[in-house]
Amino acid sequence: MFRGRESAASAPPVDGVPRHVAIIMDGNGRWARQRHLPRIAGHRKGAAAVRATVQACGELGIEHLTLFAFSSENWRRPADEVSALMELFATAIEQEVSRLHEHGVCFRVIGDRARFEPRLQQLIADAESTTAGNRRMTLTIAANYGGRWDITQAVNRLLAERAQHAEPAGPISEGDLAAHLSLADAPEPDLFIRTGGETRISNFLLWQLAYTELWFTERLWPDFGAQDIQDAVEAFRNRERRFGRTSDQIRRAPANPADRSLDRSPDRSPDRLMVAVREVEVTLPRHANDPVPKVVGAG
Ligand code: FPP
Repeated sequence: MFRGRESAASAPPVDGVPRHVAIIMDGNGRWARQRHLPRIAGHRKGAAAVRATVQACGELGIEHLTLFAFSSENWRRPADEVSALMELFATAIEQEVSRLHEHGVCFRVIGDRARFEPRLQQLIADAESTTAGNRRMTLTIAANYGGRWDITQAVNRLLAERAQHAEPAGPISEGDLAAHLSLADAPEPDLFIRTGGETRISNFLLWQLAYTELWFTERLWPDFGAQDIQDAVEAFRNRERRFGRTSDQIRRAPANPADRSLDRSPDRSPDRLMVAVREVEVTLPRHANDPVPKVVGAG
């Protein structure tokens, strides 16, 4: 249903809670160094932060969470760190998949997995097939992923398909290409978060981040938690997303009744409205600029 979009064709509805959050988890090594621990200790604590973040995003009603766990460039790290990261990834899948499944989370991996050990490839495939039917939230892990790799593989797949169907060579549209990207079936990220103080995209979802709101924090990834997600969502809600339109047009645009946005009508009482966001009930603020609701029970 998200296939075939042209970036100039339509603007997605502007909503109070981002549908899709994409995160570069940075700062594990520094977190460990500050404590005179080996880098892998930072990655282990980072895995715990992943768990807390998935829970917090689920409770806020975020539908898609995409995490950059290992870039195409991370193979350049010391061999022992790379193998420790692969082991941590495998262990996390083994330990977490049943819990994700119980909570209705669809687990997916994007990236070139051919370079992974066969055991890790099998764990990924099993986890994906176990959770494929879940609809509450999609957790996508980008592993051996790069934005340039993604665009290149999309073009190659598109050309191969055309050749296979003996289609005449013709220009490729944005929609053709977008439909072959790794996240073709997800909405483009509304909110991008990077921890660890760097302000770069670092070859993450290059195509998909074209209109995404960017939010950077000094917080090191292992220290990241529910409060940070809430701060990021609050900042997001105060942004004006124009998608090429003018401020005036945005202010005049009626709320899209099909979206799951907050009811911001001024004449409704009581002051705070109880709104069910999927299976989670949260108290949503009445006005767009009110603080983001507190997540209950997130670590
Ligand atoms: C960046 O911090 C982090 C990584 C390259 C790995 C991310 C891995 C995890 C969060 C743990 C496991 C993930 C999953 C999905 C189970 P860095 O090492 O570059 O930190 P530094 O910049 O401080 O050195």
